[in-house]
Amino acid sequence: MKALQVTAYGEIKDSLAFNEVAKPSIQAKDVLIEVKAAAINPIDKVIILGYLKGMIPIPMPSTLAYDVSGIVVEIGADVKGFEIGDAVYSRVPQEQMGTLTQFVAVDSTVVAKKPENVSFEEAASIPLAGLTAFQCLEHVGIKANDKVLIHAGSGGVGSFAIQYAKSKGAYVYTTTSTENVEWVKALGADRVIDYKKEDYKNIVTDADSVFDTLGKEYSTDAFGVIKTGGKVVSIAGPMDEATAHAFGMADYTLPEDLAQAIEAKKASYTFIWMHPSAEDLTTIKGLIEAGKIKPVIDKIYPFAESIAAFEHLATGRAKGKIVIKMN
Ligand SMILES: NC(=O)c1ccc[n+]([C@@H]2O[C@H](COP(=O)([O-])OP(=O)(O)OC[C@H]3O[C@@H](n4cnc5c(N)ncnc54)[C@H](OP(=O)(O)O)[C@@H]3O)[C@@H](O)[C@H]2O)c1
Repeated sequence: MKALQVTAYGEIKDSLAFNEVAKPSIQAKDVLIEVKAAAINPIDKVIILGYLKGMIPIPMPSTLAYDVSGIVVEIGADVKGFEIGDAVYSRVPQEQMGTLTQFVAVDSTVVAKKPENVSFEEAASIPLAGLTAFQCLEHVGIKANDKVLIHAGSGGVGSFAIQYAKSKGAYVYTTTSTENVEWVKALGADRVIDYKKEDYKNIVTDADSVFDTLGKEYSTDAFGVIKTGGKVVSIAGPMDEATAHAFGMADYTLPEDLAQAIEAKKASYTFIWMHPSAEDLTTIKGLIEAGKIKPVIDKIYPFAESIAAFEHLATGRAKGKIVIKMN
């Protein structure tokens, strides 16, 4: 079967190839999924560039991508709750990375039934970004009437996070550039801040929480817009110490400016590395079927044009998700 693989660390144009690979065999806990659609995420780009090779070493060549939707075609001996023919979706675990192909073996404990009211392409757009947004906003305990700032509301994570925060009754501020303002408003955000014309730091005050999807100065600056005792959750900023230690960085300490900002606001800062979860995907399925969350897709590429999809991803300007449709 054909697979899109990274063949060496480097620029996208030099590092990707369509290769013939063997159909995977399943372990007792796995289901074999016939891939209908896959989605790509910024982490795929970072892996190709080699920036994560210390933390997430991969053999070369490796089939790319983590998000999948498809049909269960084989079931391992210990699998419960799935039947041949089930329509499913998943963010596959690191050791099973490689959804840009025809079949993928996935640990059934991170596979969920696909939302019934969306297409396979829409379902594939959800897992990694949706789980990230869901887990981060659950971490801050988002609830009705909270004021939350969600950065990059037009991104894959942000567009889901806005809808999830609204489903919980929060007041949502979000940042995006001029051309995205109207459609991001339509996702339900209460105050869309056009970062080309406005400075969110002059608009957001006393937020209960900030969802930092941008990192760099945005992580420290979040403490300028939250209330005393507020919460900042980041997926792109510096790791917090507990997370870094869990990743084996025993000597890691927070950057000093960030530590001072946290202390000045008696606030909390958590870096979250999303985790695959069938339970969370099943909750998300319910939200999608209830019409509370709609997948946001920028573009669907045929499998044969997957490399162009990665070039699109690399611009960093995706409006929602980039999806790849298998035959
Ligand atoms: N820790 C984790 O587990 C985890 C999980 C998922 C993602 N991430 C990371 O989180 C980040 C976001 O992921 P994603 O999938 O949402 O990325 P994405 O879909 O590629 O984000 C693209 C969006 O970012 C917006 N953007 C870029 N710069 C911006 C700025 N200065 N202010 C506001 N919006 C801006 C762009 O809007 P404009 O064109 O309008 O600027 C674009 O719509 C990435 O760095 C990713 O690696 C981490």
